[in-house]
Amino acid sequence: MINNDRLIRACRRQEVDRAPVWMMRQAGRYLPEYRALRAKYDFMTMCKTPELAYEVSMQPYEILGVDGVILFSDILVVVEAMGMKLDIIESKGPALDDPIRADAQVEKLIIPDPVETMPFVMETIRLLRKRLNHEAPLIGFAGAPFTLASYMVEGGGTRNYAEIKRMMYREPKTIHKLLDKLADAIILYINAQIEAGAQVVQLFDTWAGELSAADYEEFALPYEQKVFEHIHRGPGGLTIPAILYVNGCSHILEKMAKSGANVLSIDWRIDLAEARRRAGDKVALQGNLDPCELLGTPETITESVKEILKKGGGLGHIMNLGHGILPMVPVENARAFIEAAKAGIKEVA
Ligand code: CP3
Repeated sequence: MINNDRLIRACRRQEVDRAPVWMMRQAGRYLPEYRALRAKYDFMTMCKTPELAYEVSMQPYEILGVDGVILFSDILVVVEAMGMKLDIIESKGPALDDPIRADAQVEKLIIPDPVETMPFVMETIRLLRKRLNHEAPLIGFAGAPFTLASYMVEGGGTRNYAEIKRMMYREPKTIHKLLDKLADAIILYINAQIEAGAQVVQLFDTWAGELSAADYEEFALPYEQKVFEHIHRGPGGLTIPAILYVNGCSHILEKMAKSGANVLSIDWRIDLAEARRRAGDKVALQGNLDPCELLGTPETITESVKEILKKGGGLGHIMNLGHGILPMVPVENARAFIEAAKAGIKEVA
């Protein structure tokens, strides 16, 4: 039993006294406490040092009082374990050497044993569970095959996804081989996180919204399905709820509802009430404040949160942003978001 189990219950569409709230990228640069540690260590060192990863994972919980703690790491850690060289470049983002452009490179990638290659992730999870001691749930995560493949083929972030799409249209066998290999690696990785103590898992297919609906159905959905099918859910499929996030999901929401995820995490471009109607009554929804709204004032944030809570309807809704929190958000605004989410339901009920 978890003391604050709102997040777990909401994932399963069970009754809760109010919608749970957390923020994607809640451990990050908008917090002075995070920046203070980052001044001393580079990002990958923080990911690979359990005591540091533990400390920054706990910061938003202790400073803001969110309803869940997400493991501090990055979706690209597993890509490094598969054999690519990764750099996270200050104020530019991730860069991968020798991007995947040919079948032979896909063949060379390994499917890593997560415990052997990423022991720091499992140790961070164990430290967090020990500290949380059933106070609040611990969220594990991984990138989904399409989103990880986009970094591996592009060699970093991209504006138009031209290289991965070129591979989709010219070398479909190669991209499918890469996506399938990624799915196998991610299944092992998520299961190891669950074994170490993760109590909810979120699969980030952040960039799958860049695909047409038909391409989503061919290059993203089958691999999301494969992952959700093979991760350990415990008896009755209920123990470990799984969340799927896609940025720009409005044109594919009905298809995402067939992924096998218990929760769809949606961006701000789609109305939550409309998403509810379209996603059906089998899945819960997470979201969906525009992260830029946190650049407003505590008053405008509180108003917007109330609107979203009304549309969320209290059942099967997890309050969150539509994408990660931005580094320039004032902490008092992040606090206003969390506080409004915690108070709001009473006023709108
Ligand atoms: O949510 C959390 O607080 C947990 C930690 C977390 C990070 N990245 C930390 C991070 C999680 C869940 C992620 C996921 C992630 N990483 C995604 C999917 C979600 C999303 O936001 O779209 C993606 C696409 C990445 C890849 C990535 N890592 C990018 C594009 C960047 C650079 C952009 C940026 O914000 O600087 C990173 C680096 C990164 N990952 C940072 C953090 C806190 C910033 C590194 C720093 O401190 O300099």
